[in-house]
Amino acid sequence: MGIVFNAEFGIFKLDAGNTTYAFMADENKYLAHLYYGPHLSTDNLKVLYRPQVRAFCPYPEDRSPICSPDMFPQEFGTNGVGDYRASSAVIRDINGHTAVNPKYRSHKIYAGKPQLAGLPATFGDEKETETLEISLFDEFLQAEFILLYSVFANINTISRSIKVINHGKNPLHIEKLSSCTLDFYDGDFDFIHLWGSHCRERHVERTELIHGVNSINSGRGLSSHQHNPFFALAEKDVTENHGRIYGVALVYSGNFLVEAEKDQFNQVRTQIGINPWNFGWELTPGESFQAPEALLTVSNAGLQGMSHNFHDAIRQHLLRSYWRNLKRPILVNNWEATYFNFNTEKLISVAKDAAKLGIEMLVLDDGWFGKRADDTTSLGDWFVWEEKLPGGFDYLVKEVNKLGLKFGLWFEPEMVSEKSELYKKHPDWCLQIPGRVRSLGRNQMVLDLSRPEVVDYLFETISKILSSANIEYIKWDANRHLTEVASALATPERQCETTHRFVLGMYQLHERLLERFPKLLIEGCSGGGGRFDAGMLYYVPQIWTSDDSDAIERLKIQYGTSLVYPCSTMGAHVSDSPNHQTGRVTPFETRGVVAMSGTFGYELDLNKMDEHEQSCIKQQVKDYHKYNHIVAQGDLYRLTDPFSALTYVVWMQVTKDKSEFLLSYVQRRRIPHEPIFSVRLAGLDAGKNYRNTATGEVLSGEMLMNAGFMLPGLIYDGDSMQFHFVAE
Ligand code: GLA
Repeated sequence: MGIVFNAEFGIFKLDAGNTTYAFMADENKYLAHLYYGPHLSTDNLKVLYRPQVRAFCPYPEDRSPICSPDMFPQEFGTNGVGDYRASSAVIRDINGHTAVNPKYRSHKIYAGKPQLAGLPATFGDEKETETLEISLFDEFLQAEFILLYSVFANINTISRSIKVINHGKNPLHIEKLSSCTLDFYDGDFDFIHLWGSHCRERHVERTELIHGVNSINSGRGLSSHQHNPFFALAEKDVTENHGRIYGVALVYSGNFLVEAEKDQFNQVRTQIGINPWNFGWELTPGESFQAPEALLTVSNAGLQGMSHNFHDAIRQHLLRSYWRNLKRPILVNNWEATYFNFNTEKLISVAKDAAKLGIEMLVLDDGWFGKRADDTTSLGDWFVWEEKLPGGFDYLVKEVNKLGLKFGLWFEPEMVSEKSELYKKHPDWCLQIPGRVRSLGRNQMVLDLSRPEVVDYLFETISKILSSANIEYIKWDANRHLTEVASALATPERQCETTHRFVLGMYQLHERLLERFPKLLIEGCSGGGGRFDAGMLYYVPQIWTSDDSDAIERLKIQYGTSLVYPCSTMGAHVSDSPNHQTGRVTPFETRGVVAMSGTFGYELDLNKMDEHEQSCIKQQVKDYHKYNHIVAQGDLYRLTDPFSALTYVVWMQVTKDKSEFLLSYVQRRRIPHEPIFSVRLAGLDAGKNYRNTATGEVLSGEMLMNAGFMLPGLIYDGDSMQFHFVAE
């Protein structure tokens, strides 16, 4: 780790783990990007600076030597002054001008890493991180841009963010402020991103980066099921474990925009940040605006290398929950077991069976509050529905605790039903444009979390419930996207700030609840995995990955999610068969194998389990305790790609010290007389011998990785196996 400034050439060299990132303040005070890739020991990087000028590439009249800002990679994309690629900022002054052209002014290098006001961000102490703060100044706008770069010891990741300060006498209006510009001299890349829908989140798409702008975004107020705030640029030969790949993830949970632009010279400009669509921010004199953080990584070891870098950075420097390194309790959630149809007696009877089977926590999902008999009512009324749950939580939680189980509860804090006490009292607390027809989603509206009194109300009511009984977990849901975004409090000039202020309000609510209940385990959720992003992971160590709990569909969803996010963050449960989303029948064992690569739990009616199912649960509970440290703390190796492997899907997790591994395989579809299938394992110590703990068979790491492991044939669609090996 280290950040070095070479004053002779104005070059900044940032070493993060085995990688180097470099740029220079050139003679004209532009920040010219020089390099991002595997570690370079030399600091003679000036040779990488190649300013040029060509026809139709304008250059500033005061610039010497002549060179066009359109023609070299930069750390900040100027706007309207000759660089036609996607800009980092668009700022309108009082005269309506929107050009932005800040120049290098000064820098600071220091140990540690500052937190970003009001926003989630990676952290590290003074031994683990070092930060470079660059100040750029636009004399014309009297605006300062502070670019922050932090490196982490032994982690191949850097974080970047940007803040703008208005030092002038007049207000400025931010129309766009990207968190990070990452440029390349040439762009023979593929663009990889995660797309999807409700119940089909984070499928992987890889396409050739075409000339023009390749772009994904969310304008839904939440990071969304549809696109994830992440992209990768992979060189053409990149495979799972080979080739140069760059990955960028945004630590933000609201509207975002990714732009990857390949220009006329095959240069590539990328931007990631808050989506400028329907966004704006008034910056009065003296005020500043902080854009969210982006995490950047590069690997020469393909998708696997990129994922390992992200997983390590997230686990060590982003998850800050009390629970981040703790084994999470095996839970049973009543949603798919009962939906709204439960009462105290039913819950206690489920808890009794759960206790017998070794399950550690009962989670009561939707339907416990207000008069919530179905999804048309009561959101916002966060008080217990005593008629449904006589004795309230005081009684229920004590009974559940007596059985040795923890208790958890579902909330959907950001929403309100028209049929609710809250709406009756505060009809102006929801997002709406007066006079316009409102859009509903699942019959509900979105609360205006840009208003402090709304956040206060939620903090008070949720805290009251959490203090009323021993509630140790909450599932924090958000079941619709934002529409007619407008706040009754905002002035006309500031209406376009509402979506971002909503996100800041949501973060503040998390922050305050965690301050008050530091040991609370929060599981994020938004109709399944509609807000699975690095921003949320700062507050919640796990997120319900998808409302599709079908094990076979989950193979793709969890694979895609794992490109960026570690297994320990993926909520995964064994649910009913036939599955409620797909109608597919899958063996109980397979549902366990797939869920065990996440946080693990159950989402079915434990009172209805037959003997075989009960014995499966007992075995799975044992396995979870035996394997969870490998899954949660180890490295994931994806051995086949479920988007192309129609039959077998195979993956493994290996402990960091390579002393133990868990190999999982699922036969998606049986093909008669299929060729015998062996798979080369990965991530082992070639010099070690590994013993299969079920059979006693000993095989060397060298053999398993070079010759492969013979997978026994399976008979039916959906069959699976799991193998546990320890080094001798
Ligand atoms: C969302 C969640 C589900 C469940 C329901 C309850 O869809 O993703 O897991 O909690 O809400 O209404």
